[in-house]
Amino acid sequence: MKVAVIFGGKSNEHQVSIVSGTSVISHLDKNKYTIYPIYISEDGEFYEYTKDVKKVKILTINDKIEEIKKIDNIVDYLKDIDVVFPVLHGQNGEDGTIQGFLSLLGKRYVGCHTLASSICMDKEYTKMLLKANGINVAKGVCVKKYKNQYTLVNNGDYKKVNKEEILEFVKKEYELPIFIKAVNSGSSVGVNKVNNYDDFYNYLEDSFKYDTKVLIEEGIKGREVECAVLGNNDLITSALGEVLANDNFYSFDSKYNNSVVNTVIPANIDEDIIKSVQEVAKKAYQVCNCEGLSRVDFFIQNDNKIILNEINTLPGFTEISMYPKLMENAGISYSELLDKLIELAR
Ligand SMILES: Nc1ncnc2c1ncn2[C@@H]1O[C@H](COP(=O)(O)OP(=O)(O)O)[C@@H](O)[C@H]1O
Ligand SMILES: [Mg+2]
Repeated sequence: MKVAVIFGGKSNEHQVSIVSGTSVISHLDKNKYTIYPIYISEDGEFYEYTKDVKKVKILTINDKIEEIKKIDNIVDYLKDIDVVFPVLHGQNGEDGTIQGFLSLLGKRYVGCHTLASSICMDKEYTKMLLKANGINVAKGVCVKKYKNQYTLVNNGDYKKVNKEEILEFVKKEYELPIFIKAVNSGSSVGVNKVNNYDDFYNYLEDSFKYDTKVLIEEGIKGREVECAVLGNNDLITSALGEVLANDNFYSFDSKYNNSVVNTVIPANIDEDIIKSVQEVAKKAYQVCNCEGLSRVDFFIQNDNKIILNEINTLPGFTEISMYPKLMENAGISYSELLDKLIELAR
């Protein structure tokens, strides 16, 4: 079977995808699959690896890709490929764009299709859909920026506002801390925790560097847990993994640059709460039309209320990432997981 693994990508999670992608390449069974690694540069060009796939090393976050050659015609290149595994995070990878392209070419590929990918990439639309289906999400409001004009989007009400009015609204409706997040981002890029209103405008504009739409949310107090879901029709849910954020919140640094162990698998939580979280994870997966895999992330408040934070359709896939670790805990090794995902894609 010919499997193309696509990684890198035009996204602010480019580097993370390089680590995930090379992990996937090195764990795919070379006896079962002929592997075609495809690297997408930050400016969106497609490259093939010229080195022997067996020698592909798992790269780390600041490594540069070497021994690559530009692919002249990606459509031609993919012609004989049986299954594509897009190990891409964030924009142009996890948002339905590559999925739409592959669907158009009639290719089978790992993971969610276009609709689910697009919905889950957009934190505003994910929350709208979940809320409409009775799943708890953090109270939030969206702000859109077009040139220098802001629009406040509050429960379907669109109102043109200036910055002062945004702050006024937030002060009235929310208690500190609040979170400001770029809507279509990941890996905590463009995510800011606001503990003091003096920082509000700076953080707002920081988040706007990454997107034209930001989400302002109440800060949830409680434990942060993640659940892995696998399947198309019959769904497997994993135990929960807990994130022990050592940086105030689960920031980019605590995700990738901090060697301190900051996840616990399986989380030490009451059995009935675990079951409820798994049920919500499954429901959310179905509500959002997910297929193949997704990692569903939650907060469990001190009163045990379960709040869904986000759904990652192509979660981190390094050897130490939560998704493969949770599956390993469920008795599915990394290589077996890759086999299952390819089978689900077919
Ligand atoms: N409303 C919130 N309350 C408390 N913590 C939050 C909230 N939103 C985000 N966080 C923290 O910020 C981190 C990153 O935010 P998240 O929404 O998961 O974005 P990303 O897609 O970048 O992972 C979370 O893992 C969590 O630690
Ligand atoms: Mg997250």
